[in-house]
Amino acid sequence: MLILGIESSCDETAAAVVDDGRKVLSDIVASQAGIHGPYGGVVPELASRKHLEYIIPVVDMALKEAGCSAEKLDAIAATQGPGLVGALLVGLGAAKAMAYAHGIPFIPVNHLEGHIQAAFMGDEQPEGPFACLVVSGGHTALYKVSDDCTVRLLGATRDDAAGEAFDKIAKMLEIGYPGGIAIDRLALSGNPEAVHFPRSRFDRESLEFSFSGLKTSAANFIRKHGIPHKISMREDAEVQRTESAQAECSLEDFAASFQEAIVDVLVSKTIEAARQCGLKQIAAVGGVAANSRLRQKLSEQALADGIRLFMPPIRFCTDNAVMIASSAYRIWARSGFSSETLDIDAFSR
Ligand code: KG4
Ligand code: ZN
Repeated sequence: MLILGIESSCDETAAAVVDDGRKVLSDIVASQAGIHGPYGGVVPELASRKHLEYIIPVVDMALKEAGCSAEKLDAIAATQGPGLVGALLVGLGAAKAMAYAHGIPFIPVNHLEGHIQAAFMGDEQPEGPFACLVVSGGHTALYKVSDDCTVRLLGATRDDAAGEAFDKIAKMLEIGYPGGIAIDRLALSGNPEAVHFPRSRFDRESLEFSFSGLKTSAANFIRKHGIPHKISMREDAEVQRTESAQAECSLEDFAASFQEAIVDVLVSKTIEAARQCGLKQIAAVGGVAANSRLRQKLSEQALADGIRLFMPPIRFCTDNAVMIASSAYRIWARSGFSSETLDIDAFSR
């Protein structure tokens, strides 16, 4: 069953052709990072306009790379929500128009279910229920995923998403967008214990998150001491001679310490979710699941606790259309096709 998937919920215009839910024939992602970079975050109106410009070439490329014409497709799927209203309308509108023109079914996909589907895109797949951390720019939540891939929310963030905290602090540090990747890179050569940032855990049993206190604490540090210098710049400028906190904490140390505070909470709550549900399988998906420290610490903790961990390859962590086409296959297998009259659902959860 050949499905063309389309994703346009935020700042990536993506299209992919996937056979029977697993065989990836093409995977095209046109990123708008360079366009939103100067603003330090996604500008919705700019995103919609770029999606309009990219959508047809991206779909054409996906079909060409898969070596298949639109006539050979069995169905077309697109992200229905959650996401930016104008951005979603472009992908969903294109998918419905194509499906109508070619007389084939259209399958709407929830973006978060798409991310969860990516847990099955690694070398090994979960068998039976698992606890899943969905951690991205817009979402941070834990779900119990059942055998049939239906999901139950266990706990979500009360305020910011983890990716949003990464992006906002990276913007203050003036290190580029998307901030998570920039912080991840700098942190590789920093000391995670250089600055102690707060970890919000509520009570031990809670599966909710909060990153606004951490964000405020990091922002206050920057306001008080200025942007920490890179290690190389400190040597050049001989800033190390001064006794200020800025001189003692390099940009790399700051990045590593900030990242550690986020990772600690994500790891402990994911393990706690598995414990509370009596599960021995966990997964982490979404853009922040590409974080190298999160991948390392979650693997170590899962190993220590005898839990199997499933993480998608990095290219399937951030937004992509393979997860949408693959999810659509599962939806079709479960409940068949829906109608082309369906509209976007920007605020779905
Ligand atoms: O899943 P995604 O592409 O879009 C949403 O659905 O939100 O996630 C984007 C988020 C951004 O906040 C970005 O900074 C973060 O994922 N991200 C990372 C890394 N790569 C992307 N965060 C931490 N470490 C990374 N390596
Ligand atoms: Zn996403």
